[in-house]
Amino acid sequence: MSVTHGAHPGESLSAEEAAQLSPEEAMIAGAEADGIYIVHRRERFPIAGTKAEKRAERTIAAVFMVGFLAAVAFIVVFCGAVPFEWQLPGVGNQNYRFFTPLIGGLLGLSLACVGIGVILWAKWLLPEEEAVQDRHDGASDLTEQILVAGTLVSGYQDLGLARRSMLKTTLGLAGGALGLVPLVALVGAMIKKPNRGEGQSLFHTPFEPGMPIVYADGRRVGPGDLLPGGIATVFPGIPGGVKDPDAPTLLIRLKPGETVKARKGQENYHWGDYVAFSKICTHAGCPASLYEQKTGRLLCPCHQSQFDVLQDAKPVFGPATRSLPKLPLDVEMVDGRQYFVAKGDYPEAIGPSFWERP
Ligand code: FES
Repeated sequence: MSVTHGAHPGESLSAEEAAQLSPEEAMIAGAEADGIYIVHRRERFPIAGTKAEKRAERTIAAVFMVGFLAAVAFIVVFCGAVPFEWQLPGVGNQNYRFFTPLIGGLLGLSLACVGIGVILWAKWLLPEEEAVQDRHDGASDLTEQILVAGTLVSGYQDLGLARRSMLKTTLGLAGGALGLVPLVALVGAMIKKPNRGEGQSLFHTPFEPGMPIVYADGRRVGPGDLLPGGIATVFPGIPGGVKDPDAPTLLIRLKPGETVKARKGQENYHWGDYVAFSKICTHAGCPASLYEQKTGRLLCPCHQSQFDVLQDAKPVFGPATRSLPKLPLDVEMVDGRQYFVAKGDYPEAIGPSFWERP
């Protein structure tokens, strides 16, 4: 193949002449018509199918295959092969610690492999080329359009996609699996609703009907323990109940004359002058436990949300938008003394708001 270098020779070609050129000749002529002169161009493997070329091709395919496997592994891990829910130390499956490093590492590996594979393909298999470019303005005529088409076809032929089926397949696998990753992460996160399956735990705490209510040291809490206006942080009386992140509950004894304007259906959740609210702030989950007796307000120290206990812990200031859930209280007699028990679990999810909250 030879194309005369000169002052934009491609511009002097007619459409008929341009149509006679091979794709590579058209690409070079087109480049020259645009003021780009290819001063050096050489195939990396002038003889196709040599051992060296096959070796390069296999190496690149192996890199793409690793990218494919990493993307598939990401999807498998994300879809539940590794637990993601936090567990108390020493209790339950601790493998949740590997979830985030694994999905981060696998996604990084997959992206890196596809990137490295593409770079190696360009470096090892595409023709070597050096070009010098002039610049020009203006629209392209038909001849130039044909030459550009030739340029694109030549580039495609240089890629060797038609005869490099192994590379085509492995790149397709890696790229396809990688393309699925954002889809799985985005769509999967919407399908995996927190009120279904394992996520149902978002709506429950360890409290259940008849469960003793205890202090952090395990002692049972009784109605005679607090002075009017007093508060205590209490927990479900089961092993590990004190450490359960959903369990901290604030027991409040109202002052004489104070009453709580209860939510509909929760009119009998108090016991005498005692009420109990979740201590987990409904804004971002900090412990809301600064009780101001005088105003009956419960303050969260993190972002200054305030909850009016007498309005059933309704948020009256700050970023929280939802009332603190209320625990239904009852008492039982043990050895002639009254102790608090839960009448049931919280009727709604405790803590920060999330979508699909009832
Ligand atoms: S966590 Fe309580 S106000 Fe933000």
